[in-house]
Amino acid sequence: MLATYSLKLPKVVFGGEDSLEQLAGVLEKEGAQKVAVFTDPTLRKLGLVDPVLAAVKAAGAEATVYDDIPAEPSYGQVQAVVDQVAGTGEDIVVAVGGGSVMDTAKLACVCAGADYTVHDLLSDPKRAKKQIACVAVPTTAGTGAEATINAIVAVSEDEVKIGIVNDDMMPDYVLLDVRMIQNLPRSIAAATGLDAMCHAIECFTCKKANPFSDMFALEAFDLIINNIERACDDKDALDAKRAMQVAALYGGIAITASGTTAVHGLSYPLGGKYHVPHGVSNAILLSPVMHFNEPAIRDRLAIAYDRAIKGDAKTEEEKSAAVIERMDQIVSHLDIPKTLDALGVHDASIDWLAEAGIKQQRLLSNNKREVTLEDAKAIYRQIM
Ligand SMILES: NC(=O)c1ccc[n+]([C@@H]2O[C@H](COP(=O)([O-])OP(=O)(O)OC[C@H]3O[C@@H](n4cnc5c(N)ncnc54)[C@H](O)[C@@H]3O)[C@@H](O)[C@H]2O)c1
Ligand SMILES: [Zn+2]
Repeated sequence: MLATYSLKLPKVVFGGEDSLEQLAGVLEKEGAQKVAVFTDPTLRKLGLVDPVLAAVKAAGAEATVYDDIPAEPSYGQVQAVVDQVAGTGEDIVVAVGGGSVMDTAKLACVCAGADYTVHDLLSDPKRAKKQIACVAVPTTAGTGAEATINAIVAVSEDEVKIGIVNDDMMPDYVLLDVRMIQNLPRSIAAATGLDAMCHAIECFTCKKANPFSDMFALEAFDLIINNIERACDDKDALDAKRAMQVAALYGGIAITASGTTAVHGLSYPLGGKYHVPHGVSNAILLSPVMHFNEPAIRDRLAIAYDRAIKGDAKTEEEKSAAVIERMDQIVSHLDIPKTLDALGVHDASIDWLAEAGIKQQRLLSNNKREVTLEDAKAIYRQIM
């Protein structure tokens, strides 16, 4: 365990019934005059931005909508958005979207009007200083980006994804409103929900786990194990969907207090080169990495079992096996393919993946069991 640990949170998080109704008050409190609303074309078409625009109007402010934010953007694509915002005098960004939109907003809030670029932050993230306030309205229940100090961008020339980390990227306000995720297509709800499940179990079994992160990681894991299937399968299961929103937020808090491990570390090259969506790449790697880690994290998995599953398993070994099996069942139930081949990626190179994966030491160094190049190859071999 770390000797010193800390808990970093957004200033205010609104949850529960119709929390979006609080947005006008937030804008008024912040004295916002000109609001930049970040989103993507799908979400705009679905009408998810409309209540946000109504709140801006109610607060007596003006809105400009930036609706061309791509999924899993590169640093260059984020910079293009930053350049559009810079010089407009916009004083607050409201991000309506999943991790892609929220990460773009978080970077825009530290880069617009600053004397450094998104590219500069790749090598020197310490330079980031908040320029504009940030409000996150998540439309997926997954990344937890609404409560992390990270933003993930693709670095196309190296075919990888990189996390930029700085305390100033924590969103200031978060509004969790179930209306935003009610009509998520099942496949997106599944992939993003499984991302949150990975956050919870990785943070709980991380070298950096501590009492603060455990509190959020374990509760997130319990909520996810017992709600994710219904939240994805049943359009009307609003209670399960709300539980997933809370769990995703808690997963984000746990990431900030602890960290993800080899599942996320090894998944970045799958996103960077083969464009496998973030949640899917983690879900595919979860079982091989958990089996690899099991001897080193058995006691932690047993605690997770006692909290979230509470079955007949008696020994630590039985309990940890049961947790891994239950997560496997969930991944199968949600129809996530088990291999890259089944996903349509037929040309993946184990050597390239392992070389790229092993470079993700920011996360691999969090893993309780050391991952060598040969271990990484053995793990990737299982998902071919
Ligand atoms: N900053 C962090 O801490 C953090 C943590 C994990 C992942 N990430 C990053 O977040 C990104 C992934 O985010 P994501 O998994 O939320 O997916 P996403 O934001 O990329 O969205 C995926 C797709 O879902 C659609 N979508 C989103 N909400 C919808 C809704 N309510 N209804 C219908 N369609 C909807 C989007 O239009 C998009 O096409 C990746 O770049 C990943 O690396 C960041
Ligand atoms: Zn993730």
